[in-house]
Amino acid sequence: MRRQISAPDYNLEDKNNELVASPPGGAGAAHEEAPRPPPPPAPRNGTSSKQGGLTIVRRSSSRGKTESSPPTDEQLDQLDLETEHLPAVDTPDACDKAALRLRYLLRQLNRGEIAVETLQNNLQYAAKVLEAVYIDETKITRHAEQPRVQPTTLHMRRLRTPCWARCSVEKPNEAKRLADEDDELSEVQPDAVPPEVREWLASTFTRQLATAKRKSDEKPKFRSVAHAIRAGIFVDRIYRRVTSTALMQFPQDVVRVLKTLDEWSFDVFALHEASLGSPIKYLGYDLLNRYGMIHKFKVQPTTLENFLSRIEEGYCKFHNPYHNNLHAADVAQTVHYMLCQTGLMNWLSDLEIFATLVAAIVHDFEHTGTTNNFHVMSGSDTALLYNDRAVLENHHISAAFRLLRDEENNILQNLSRDEFREFRTLVIDMVLATDMSFHFQQLKNMRSLLTLAEPSVDKSKAVSLVLHCCDISHPAKRWDLHHRWTMSLLDEFFLQGDKERELGLPFSPLCDRNNTLVAESQIGFIDFIVEPSMTVCADMLEYILGPLHSSTKTSTSTVKQDSINEESAGAETNTKFKIKKPWVACLMDNKKIWKEQATKDAEDRAKLEEEENGPPPTQPDE
Ligand code: CMP
Ligand code: MG
Ligand code: ZN
Repeated sequence: MRRQISAPDYNLEDKNNELVASPPGGAGAAHEEAPRPPPPPAPRNGTSSKQGGLTIVRRSSSRGKTESSPPTDEQLDQLDLETEHLPAVDTPDACDKAALRLRYLLRQLNRGEIAVETLQNNLQYAAKVLEAVYIDETKITRHAEQPRVQPTTLHMRRLRTPCWARCSVEKPNEAKRLADEDDELSEVQPDAVPPEVREWLASTFTRQLATAKRKSDEKPKFRSVAHAIRAGIFVDRIYRRVTSTALMQFPQDVVRVLKTLDEWSFDVFALHEASLGSPIKYLGYDLLNRYGMIHKFKVQPTTLENFLSRIEEGYCKFHNPYHNNLHAADVAQTVHYMLCQTGLMNWLSDLEIFATLVAAIVHDFEHTGTTNNFHVMSGSDTALLYNDRAVLENHHISAAFRLLRDEENNILQNLSRDEFREFRTLVIDMVLATDMSFHFQQLKNMRSLLTLAEPSVDKSKAVSLVLHCCDISHPAKRWDLHHRWTMSLLDEFFLQGDKERELGLPFSPLCDRNNTLVAESQIGFIDFIVEPSMTVCADMLEYILGPLHSSTKTSTSTVKQDSINEESAGAETNTKFKIKKPWVACLMDNKKIWKEQATKDAEDRAKLEEEENGPPPTQPDE
């Protein structure tokens, strides 16, 4: 049955009037267009023409139309609203097509009836076109001496409003909703925007050349750009309303905790409690939504919920004290911090971000609570299957992809074959690189790469290093969090030690509950593993993100200002880009506490020994 929306039900000018009609087959129907499309020979509707490549979207000016001449009724009458054969969203042609369709939709809404499906498909296309706007790299000014990094796609991202902030659970009242809308719109108030930002917007969203000298009386032109952006936000909002009814509901306590999701020392234990033991489900959903992945890769909300729930179950299978759903949520949140607070998300394509978030979520899936060494030494089935190499890591990946073979869990079902292959390769690379036996090699490779004159940092290597660092980041978090993690990990190690004793195997390091120096081991772990890793990771991020930062300073930046520290290098404008490093202070604090603890432990041990064996023998010369 085709549902129709008639104009009086749904007045675009009236903010108090919510869209009430549902699309056919439920609100997620927009995602149901094609179960798994065969790989297309050329870019298809809704995709980009090049993955991760530089693309400039400009309104085509070759049509002889002026900017201010909307299509005539006659042109609109001839319009065919099918959406199967539209040009790729990041091509100039797409802009014209999207604009024409928006005009048509507006006219039809005013006139009377339009099919929900047609409205959805066309709004979705228009929203994607707006999202696919990139900045032309050739307009970026670089310091001449600054090495050129990657051929860069400058896609300055802005994370989406979390769905729990948009939907009804926390803020059901209309006033709050309208206030949120005002917040969004206030960002494009022309007068509040600095001239260079205005120039960037004008050069990107209009046919105006960025280099052309602007006259003071040209402000109205920018106004029209602001209006265009408002229209874009408006279109996106209508689309979200049409599709958002099926979005997962977030309990109030979860919402309260998720408000601090962007912080370095986010309390994942609080999320665990608030979510009644399902942190992955809420955090995973929230993250994939905030980065626009649900929208971009047409992930059905129920499929995502299923997938995350199955992943959560897999993490709970062996009741591990440390390698459980909490650890996965913790690592995913830390990866999110790295993506959004350093600006790394602006260096990556949508697919790379999607793969990175999913890799973090699944990176220890179905962990057995025992180490690779234990698997090898005990000759487990898994060790046999993977020939003693990266035993657990191979299992995490394989089991997660096996889950994705079930249609009800398959969040990748709307990826093209090429996208799927790239996604899979990235996830495999990233999760395999969490094998600690690869740690020193990984660090050494990145360190020596960064000493080259013009290093070219491979995206997969970069995100792999980031994931690895996040995986071992708890000693770099606030003490209460780090201490809790350490105790959980030692519990797990000691349980393994108990098994080793039972099997007559030698104890693995840190696994003998009667002979492990906890504080000393943590000082060693910080000094030799965590600190050097965070240093190399930060150096890498500052290197790859520096050019993005310097270019955005001359145009605009969506990297939050408070995430950036700059050190002036002399009187010149040459400044070195620095990321914020909250881990440095945490590492120092934690090490200090462990050192105090180590001293106290040593004293306690000496006392105990004295009680058992009497005082130590005095030296002959004393
Ligand atoms: P995993 O999470 O699979 O990958 C990173 C590994 O680092 C982790 O397993 C532990 O084996 C190890 N690790 C993490 N934290 C500590 C710690 N505080 N002390 C010792 N080893 C740790
Ligand atoms: Mg692991
Ligand atoms: Zn891990």
